[in-house]
Amino acid sequence: MKNPYKLASRAAEELREHTGVDRYDVAVVLGSGWKEGAIALGSANVEVPTTSLSGFVAPTVAGHSGRILSLKVADLNVALVSGRVHLYEGNRADQVVHAVRTLIAAGAGRVVLTNAAGGIDPAKGPGTVVIIRDHINLTATSPLEGAPPPKGYGARFVDLTDLYSARLRRNVLDAVPELSEGVYAGFRGPHYETPAEVAMARTMGASLVGMSTVLEAIAARHLRAEVLGLSLVSNLAAGVSSGPLNHNEVLEAGQDAAASLGRLLTRIIPVL
Ligand code: HPA
Repeated sequence: MKNPYKLASRAAEELREHTGVDRYDVAVVLGSGWKEGAIALGSANVEVPTTSLSGFVAPTVAGHSGRILSLKVADLNVALVSGRVHLYEGNRADQVVHAVRTLIAAGAGRVVLTNAAGGIDPAKGPGTVVIIRDHINLTATSPLEGAPPPKGYGARFVDLTDLYSARLRRNVLDAVPELSEGVYAGFRGPHYETPAEVAMARTMGASLVGMSTVLEAIAARHLRAEVLGLSLVSNLAAGVSSGPLNHNEVLEAGQDAAASLGRLLTRIIPVL
């Protein structure tokens, strides 16, 4: 199907049939670490494999199938996306944002994008959670590239001034005052950045580097959803730490933080 918005509407209808949930309030895309932590939110009422929904591509990360978990958190209908897909897996931008578009088509007016990221500020080491205040998209693509969005879907030249909702950031900071904010620089990956690229990102005002989130945020904002971004610092970025980066250490940092990320999500979702 050529029209990615129609494809998302179709997937949303299929999701509705699977879950019996008429309208979601909040969608949460789970990055590494967050996925393990999300168990704290409670068990899912329904778990839908994304292979049973139109337009979804399977994640290529070993052992991770794509699933949408449907549950209630404090009266809110929440959909958790487990198994996000990335540009670096060979996906196009419209495939990367399809889950977000689907859940917005299923009613979700608030979208929480979580990820693991490299930290540029040595004072915010592994295990720190940072609220994304803004991003720098270094992927050289956009989910809005291509034919103009059909009538009724928001402008092609969408304003990103309030991309990461000031209202949601304020609510989260009120509920969890120990958190701080930072700017996320989104690279394509899958290689980690060079120390020079991390220095560039720091000079540009970034405090986090990662390989996800930016395209999903743009797509969500384009469909007028409110966006919240949360990064778990899984490692200090290249050149900030003394040694080389190691993917296993990044994954382990996610596992180690899982329980505290779960507790954090249970505090945050009710105030969105
Ligand atoms: N760079 C990019 N993406 C990442 C990193 C990093 O250092 N850590 C976790 N995801």
